[in-house]
Amino acid sequence: MKVVNTIEEVRAIVKEWKSNGLSIGLVPTMGYLHEGHASLIKKASQENDRVVVSDFVNPTQFAPNEDFESYPRDIEHDSAVAEENGADIIFNPDVEEMYDSKAVTFVNMTGPTEELCGKSRPIHFKGVCTVVSKLFNIVTPDKAYFGQKDAQQLAVIMKMVKDLNFGVEIVPCPIVRELDGLAKSSRNTYLSPEERKSALVLHKALNAVKKLILDGEKDTRILEEKLTQIIHTEPLAKIDYAEIVSFPDIVPLDYLKGDFLVAVAVYIGRTRLIDNFIIENGEEK
Ligand code: PAJ
Repeated sequence: MKVVNTIEEVRAIVKEWKSNGLSIGLVPTMGYLHEGHASLIKKASQENDRVVVSDFVNPTQFAPNEDFESYPRDIEHDSAVAEENGADIIFNPDVEEMYDSKAVTFVNMTGPTEELCGKSRPIHFKGVCTVVSKLFNIVTPDKAYFGQKDAQQLAVIMKMVKDLNFGVEIVPCPIVRELDGLAKSSRNTYLSPEERKSALVLHKALNAVKKLILDGEKDTRILEEKLTQIIHTEPLAKIDYAEIVSFPDIVPLDYLKGDFLVAVAVYIGRTRLIDNFIIENGEEK
């Protein structure tokens, strides 16, 4: 496995692969790889002849007050994880390589970007859509792998691919969790031992609401109140949102109908964590 830092080199490798008729899977990441990322890389390597993992902490998706500078980075660890799980190259450009200082073109979406994370992070999805478009243009993958951990991001990327006619298939991948249920995240490293315990409240609240839904409750106001009530039992937790929206359209619902997403974003101390579940055709996805 090779670490590649330039767009030019990625393009040359991809050209060679394509001339040999090989299929390519792309796993976009911001690095500090954990088992959640590893599951995407493994799936990509099972389904494609070659796998590119991009490892780039993307500045355009962080607001000035967010954790771009402190976001954890460890390219040696990431290379080992990528290699173990079957990646062929890890693309690790620096910011100047990815963004021309004079660039003025961005990919901006309305609709599904305006709810949930879009409300508290208004520039976030513009940055995500822009960098993912650039990665699609650089790597030209047949398939690209995204985790349901970031369910709104998954919906946004699926919509962008449809609207802009990208020739790539988006493959959704299930959430990988710690043994006690906390969704794996690079940001979990920010948590103190006490906060780590409190963080379990996200999974606990989602599970309680899942049970209410399975028991037949359809009023989203009641369901959202239950989420809020359980999260508030944890003194270190502060809710950003706890909401139910249609999936993949990401439109708020009064009553459960069709496929939907139950999603929470909660600050545990200063760390913002997200978690969710999706019900598709009456079953958990
Ligand atoms: P990052 O947070 O590094 O996540 C990269 C991919 O791994 C995303 O598709 C995310 O949903 C998936 N992932 C993270 N934790 C997971 C878990 N516990 N289980 C399953 N999948 C998980 O998401 C981003 O980076 C960036 O926004 C990116 C798309 C790379 C654009 O910069």
